[in-house]
Amino acid sequence: MSDRFYPAAYTKTIPQGEVCWQAPSNIALIKYWGKKEIQIPRNPSLSFTLTACATRTSVGFSLRTDHSSDYSIDFYFEGEKKEDFLPKINTFLKRAQPYLPFLSTYHFEIRSENTFPHSSGIASSASSMAALAICFVDIERQLLGLPEEALDHTKASFIARLGSGSACRSVQGKIVEWGVHEETNGSSDLYGIDWEEEAHEIFKTYHDTILLIDQGEKQVSSTVGHGLMEDHTYAERRFSQAHEHLSQLQEALRSGDLESFTTLVELEALTLHAMMLTSNPSFILMKPNTLKVIRRLQHFRETSGLHPCFTLDAGANVHILYPDSEREEVYQFIKNELVGYCENGGYICDMVGNGAKKINASASKTLVK
Ligand code: DP6
Repeated sequence: MSDRFYPAAYTKTIPQGEVCWQAPSNIALIKYWGKKEIQIPRNPSLSFTLTACATRTSVGFSLRTDHSSDYSIDFYFEGEKKEDFLPKINTFLKRAQPYLPFLSTYHFEIRSENTFPHSSGIASSASSMAALAICFVDIERQLLGLPEEALDHTKASFIARLGSGSACRSVQGKIVEWGVHEETNGSSDLYGIDWEEEAHEIFKTYHDTILLIDQGEKQVSSTVGHGLMEDHTYAERRFSQAHEHLSQLQEALRSGDLESFTTLVELEALTLHAMMLTSNPSFILMKPNTLKVIRRLQHFRETSGLHPCFTLDAGANVHILYPDSEREEVYQFIKNELVGYCENGGYICDMVGNGAKKINASASKTLVK
């Protein structure tokens, strides 16, 4: 299956160059929680691609003369050289090497920055790994002598997955599914597929206001988190539940049924946290204010007849999802009644977007030297 991602022989020698891409974060509606080697999910997941929360990455490349190590990388985050990111990048390059054989023949200067504050508690692995993967696939496109429009987005998603599972859902499309699901044609454990076409229009302009309840470092790394599902009492039931929820959510996404959408999205968020609460060791990642926000949101929904719902990541922050047609009323409610529960009043207004885009390095704050 992954044979399709081995490249043809490179037809060009390019001594040096630079590519620059911006990739967004995504918010899972059906959660990926539990994986096998290497980066194979234990259940299918589905997410909204975001817009505002994104990573911009430029990769400068020049042919190596020194071959004393497997890879030669200088990595800068927000303009500062960071050695501590190198082990993660090295692991990623090792996994990607069979599919991108040029990786060991070039020196890379990687410069990365996020559009959202570093301390916001928002995981950047999806957007950062997606941006880096698509930069590499773009370099390979050039080595193959192919035009811009021939860039292989599926391969970019496949490579992004090797860096971080959820990153494969940040490459292309507004709604992306990843993981084999019997009822989805073309679904794969190896890359994300664009599910946008099947969805009702209402979901293509959905809003996601992210309430920053706790802006600290993540308490549970995703590696530890996925590991908790290894011998979890409820693991097998959870994995099959994700398949069932995905089928039901697809139905709601097709028909525009906001009641079912709300029920399923909130159930998935709470199930993710239920898995953490009942693992060994267990983790309580919600904060008192997470629960207060959830209660107020549910009360607002009941009394207003509007349709905002919440979802959660592996942390305390709350994502409030709502349709564009309700944006004014819901945003007013968020500002008046929920922002007070956020740390330092912090929140981010985001919405569904299209995926990664090529950018000019000079358009960015720190990517240019
Ligand atoms: C709770 O993609 O960060 O956000 O593959 O180990 O990098 P790794 O994990 P990661 O896990 C994301 C978990 C989640 C749910 C989701 O996005 O589906």
